[in-house]
Amino acid sequence: MNSILTNRPALAYQVGQVAEVAGYLWQKGWAERNGGNITVNITEYVDDALRALPALSEIKPIGTTLPHLKGCYFFCKGTNRRMRDLARWPMDNGSVIRILDDCASYVIIADKEVQPTSELPSHLSVHNHLIAKGSPYKASLHTHPIELIAMTHSKKYLEKDVATNLLWSMIPETKAFCPRGVGIIPYELPSSVKLADATIAALDDYDVAMWEKHGVFAIDTDIMAAFDQVDVLNKSALIYIAAKNMGFEPDGMTREQMRELTVAFHLPK
Ligand code: 13P
Ligand code: ZN
Repeated sequence: MNSILTNRPALAYQVGQVAEVAGYLWQKGWAERNGGNITVNITEYVDDALRALPALSEIKPIGTTLPHLKGCYFFCKGTNRRMRDLARWPMDNGSVIRILDDCASYVIIADKEVQPTSELPSHLSVHNHLIAKGSPYKASLHTHPIELIAMTHSKKYLEKDVATNLLWSMIPETKAFCPRGVGIIPYELPSSVKLADATIAALDDYDVAMWEKHGVFAIDTDIMAAFDQVDVLNKSALIYIAAKNMGFEPDGMTREQMRELTVAFHLPK
């Protein structure tokens, strides 16, 4: 079977990273059935031969108009596809799409006609916003981390920055490696444009947003880095729960310890 990854090592590496992360999501129990999705802006790896590839699909609407995505290419997990299958066979469970010149529609170009994730409006809206801002971020991850989702079932943790400060205070690495913390997005219907709009707004201030009673949405330079941010946050949630299960409220790092860490690691306030 011909694949666009053949003789394109840089593109193959990016898709390989997606597959590796998909495997981790499954191993962590964050990816039941088809849960979660990944998109990566791969435009920089697209050569003339790829640009000339004919569409495999009919023209499909995105559901919104995204002016900065004209001529961009994305690798996307397929809708209803399992992360555990994406891990082993990325080009059978994901596809590459081309955004058309109207900035409101796309076609699938490779390797197979795999329909992109139902969360495409959120993912593409975020990529559009990142390009508009001149951000180096190229990857978006939506996943269902059990303990972080559990926290969003309590009003207490939906207050601005309450979850961020609690999670940061569990172990120094969390603020060091997720320095912008977590934004909170009140419940919206999965795959809706309203959810997409709320996600963009939150990601101006945070790299990770928690979708109430649903999951998290994380962005970073590449997919491994986006995964790492969610992983350190969920580790903190697990430490919190472990302490509670031992029968006490964890003390958390003190304000002074947090201040010292912020200065030493040159972290944002
Ligand atoms: P997809 O299978 O369409 O990617 O949806 C999974 C999901 O987590 C929706 O929020
Ligand atoms: Zn989801």
